[in-house]
Amino acid sequence: QSWSQQTMTVMEVDTRPYQEVIDEVYEKIKDMPGGKNADYIPELALVDSTIFGIALITVDGDIYTAGDLDDRVSIQSISKVFTLAQVIEEQGARSIMDKIGVDATGLKFNSIIAIELKQGKEINPLVNPGAIAATSLIAGNNYEEKWKNITTTYNKFAGTELFVNEPVYKSEAATNQRNQAIAYLLDAYGRMYYDPAEATDIYTKQCAINVNTKELAAMASTLANGGINPLTKEKVVSPETVAFTLSVMATAGLYDNSGQWLYATGLPGKSGVGGGIIAVDPGKYGIAVIGPKLDEAGNSVKAQYAIYEIVKALDGNPY
Ligand code: DON
Repeated sequence: QSWSQQTMTVMEVDTRPYQEVIDEVYEKIKDMPGGKNADYIPELALVDSTIFGIALITVDGDIYTAGDLDDRVSIQSISKVFTLAQVIEEQGARSIMDKIGVDATGLKFNSIIAIELKQGKEINPLVNPGAIAATSLIAGNNYEEKWKNITTTYNKFAGTELFVNEPVYKSEAATNQRNQAIAYLLDAYGRMYYDPAEATDIYTKQCAINVNTKELAAMASTLANGGINPLTKEKVVSPETVAFTLSVMATAGLYDNSGQWLYATGLPGKSGVGGGIIAVDPGKYGIAVIGPKLDEAGNSVKAQYAIYEIVKALDGNPY
C-alpha cells in the first residue's frame, strides 16, 4: 500500500493553533521507519538520514517550526520550481507551453523514454528533461550570467543568501551522465536553448544549493503570498507567474506520484531527492519538511506524511 492509501481518512478540520498541530505531527512522524537516502548521487547516501525538520510560514510572516532547523540538505528537484518561476517571469507563461510543455509525463523523473515518446515535446519543467530545458532558457548571455540570475532569484525567494553544497555538486557533476544524455537528446530534437553541457552543469549546481527547513518554507511561502516574500516583503515574481508555477506543481510536483499527492493533500507540492518537500496553500501558507529517506518514487517518506497530516489538520483538502 502506498502512503496515501494507508493514511486517507475523512477530513476533519480542527481549529487548534498552528504550533500545536506542528508539534503533534512532529512527535507522531519523528521515528517513522521506511525509505532510504538517495544514493545514485554518491554524496547523498552520506547525509544524516535522521534529520527531520518542519517549518510553516504564513503569508503574514508568522513562523511555526519543529525539529532540526539548522541542518541543511541540497535543494535538488525543488529548485526546478524556482527556475521555472523565473523563466515564466522573464518570458511569459506561453513560452513554457511552446518550448517545453506542461503535461505530466507519468514516468520517472529522469525518464529518457518520456522524451522519446513525445519527440522532445511535452516534457514538463518539473522533471529532469524539462528542468534542464528551463535552466537553458534562463536569461543570461553566458554561464556566469545565467548562474547569477538563478542565485539572485533563489535568494529573493528565501529572503537570505543561499550557498552551494560543493561536495554534492562535485559528486553529482561526476555522475550525471544520464542528465547529460537527456540534454543532448533534447538538443537533437531542437528543444534545448543553450549549450547542453553547460545547461546541465548549471542545473546540477542549482540542485546542489543548500537549504534548511525554514529557508525552504520561506521560498514556499513566497509562492503562497502571490510572489511577495512574507519575511522581507520583497516582490520576487508576479501573481501571474505564481499561478502558472503552482499549476505545474499540481500536475507534476511529486513525479509519478503527483496524482496521489494532489488527491490526498489538495495542495501543489514539490519534492527533491535531498529529502525536502514543499507545499503551498495559496493565500495562507507555505510549508517545508526535510527528511532524507525516500520512497521508490524519490519522495521523502517523512515529509509526505508530515505535510499530509498538517494540511489535513489545518485545512482539509481545499479542493
Ligand atoms: O537531476 C537529478 O537527478 C537531481 N539533481 C535531482 C532529482 C530530484 O531531486 C528528483 N526528486 N525527487
